[in-house]
Amino acid sequence: MIKLAILASGNGTNAQQISEYFAASNSIKVDCVIYNRKDAFVAERAKQLNIPAHYFGRKAFYEDGEVLRFLQQREIDWVILAGFLWLVPQDILAAFPDRIINIHPALLPNYGGAGMYGHHVHEAVIANHEKESGITIHMVDKQYDHGRTLFQAKCQITEEDTPDSLAAKIHLLEKEYFPQVIERTLLS
Ligand code: GAR
Repeated sequence: MIKLAILASGNGTNAQQISEYFAASNSIKVDCVIYNRKDAFVAERAKQLNIPAHYFGRKAFYEDGEVLRFLQQREIDWVILAGFLWLVPQDILAAFPDRIINIHPALLPNYGGAGMYGHHVHEAVIANHEKESGITIHMVDKQYDHGRTLFQAKCQITEEDTPDSLAAKIHLLEKEYFPQVIERTLLS
């Protein structure tokens, strides 16, 4: 069994979709959810799904290696970032080389980097009158939104679209593709 840890910071719709997708899998299992904001709704979703959810703060991530030890103790194979808004610490990157995957709600390399997350991305895309946006699923390295692209999917933007309606289109793409791309990458 390949064991996944999902890292998330907020609502957790992607964490939920990934967990539901692999619930019946014989080869891939979501072992736990790790979240870094105490009030993140992802914790509630994990509870509903009977998946252990653990909060860790900045010190545990960046100073005393607690998150890395936790991942190692649980014998995690792959780390999935699903709306996780901090840079992955160096010790975790080193322990999981080419084994950390992120999803970004735009067509990288456009609209990526520090501060470009969630709604901020959709606001910038609409403000620039882009005709299309989409999702990028990529390997994680030490820079925000930078590692090797595994997959992209696009959606069209109309004159009527707002940041909210674009976010809804992006969520549909995320739901459709993120679990499948994880599966394909892990099993290839
Ligand atoms: C998702 O749209 C994801 O692509 C984005 O945050 C949202 C989290 O939603 N990630 C980033 O912006 C990373 N830079 P969720 O908590 O409902 O899964």
